[in-house]
Amino acid sequence: MTRAHEQIEWHPASWRTRKAVQQPNYPDADAVEGVLARLSELPPLVVSGEVEGLKQQLAEAQQGRRFVLQGGDCAESFDECTSPRIAAKLKILLQMSVILLHGMKQPVIRVGRMAGQYAKPRSADTETREGVTLPSYRGDLVNRSPFNAVDRVPDPMLMLRGYERAALTLNFVRALVDGGFADLHHPEYWDLAFVSHSPMEKEYRRIVESIVNSLDFFESISGGPVHHTRRIDFYTSHEGLHLLYEQAQTRYIERRRRWYNLSTHYPWIGMRTADVDGAHVEFFRGVSNPIGIKVGSAMSAEWLQELIDRLNPHNEPGRLTLIHRFGVNDIEQRLPPLIDAVRATGSTVLWICDAMHGNTESTASGLKTRRFDRILRELELAFDIHRDMGSHLGGVHVELTGDDVTECTGGARGLTDGDLARAYRSQVDPRLNYEQSLELAMHVAGMRRRRV
Ligand code: PEP
Ligand code: CO
Repeated sequence: MTRAHEQIEWHPASWRTRKAVQQPNYPDADAVEGVLARLSELPPLVVSGEVEGLKQQLAEAQQGRRFVLQGGDCAESFDECTSPRIAAKLKILLQMSVILLHGMKQPVIRVGRMAGQYAKPRSADTETREGVTLPSYRGDLVNRSPFNAVDRVPDPMLMLRGYERAALTLNFVRALVDGGFADLHHPEYWDLAFVSHSPMEKEYRRIVESIVNSLDFFESISGGPVHHTRRIDFYTSHEGLHLLYEQAQTRYIERRRRWYNLSTHYPWIGMRTADVDGAHVEFFRGVSNPIGIKVGSAMSAEWLQELIDRLNPHNEPGRLTLIHRFGVNDIEQRLPPLIDAVRATGSTVLWICDAMHGNTESTASGLKTRRFDRILRELELAFDIHRDMGSHLGGVHVELTGDDVTECTGGARGLTDGDLARAYRSQVDPRLNYEQSLELAMHVAGMRRRRV
């Protein structure tokens, strides 16, 4: 039997023949075409060699030889493209990765939800307030959040502004990483001002000391620097949501004879856009990046099997990551049948747990929050379920910030619902703050250590 999709030849615009959900309605088609023409000529944000390098590392993670830390904001905002914010986010991700590396004795693949996480799926196309209906805010790549008729109109120029912010962010991150900021010999560079106020401080410093000591020891007996510990890899990812934007940065690399989406290393397909016959799956079928798929409680075994077949028909190592996000209440019921379903396809995937999106709740005053103990509990269950089924959890996906916000409750400092108002800054989902992120990494390292 020939399947319908095998008869359609892929090209970067073939998604346009499919139903594309979650896309903006631009009022001026000519303006859109002008922006896309410009975007498709501008240099790519990442290059295919890096993308292939990451894919290879992910293939090793699929074999249990590396662990993925993927984290960052729910949505980046253009206003927060500033030096302290970017550095703080990079620092917390580096600190977490050091804790994981130390606890798991295994290389960590660091992936930021950064340099392009500017578009958000919404539950409705429009929003109504006091009888006025306007387009929903879809992220800074699409429109502006203030509730008025001018700001909410999708503006194609924002795609260029987003590309530029992504380039600025990436340039800064690359320079910091190359300039020695991520040198494991000097983790003291990454101290944030408030590490010394954290209940986690002692434990963190103990880990850092132990790493520096073991590097010194290794280097003194080997007589030279441990080269690969000086320089680290840092990869970017974002939800591949806005297809015009993604298409404009998709290039054919002659020497590899393959297409790549060079707006990011590691895009993922969100829960709301994972229809097998939809435009997003059609688009991502043809690019060679490693890709993630968010897997929530609505996902059936057959649906997941079809996605695997469509997105990785040749079972390429490192190509597919399944990011499950069931929530602490559903994971025990939902995950096991999907592990079986994936196994039945014979395809190799990497399983990552997003312990955030299934655990969102509202406080009595209507603020969106997440409880730290529920996040940890879901991670613990994820490790156990995979192990008990002969599978393994190869990474964690978290929404966090390097700042001292109050958006999630719990953690060592015991934030309560009443504390949230103090520094609640997210426009979208609640993020772990700096201390909670550090604490989470310590718990995850312990969970993994106890289970191998
Ligand atoms: C997200 O990662 O911010 C998100 C919207 O996730 P999901 O598609 O899993 O709901
Ligand atoms: Co989110």
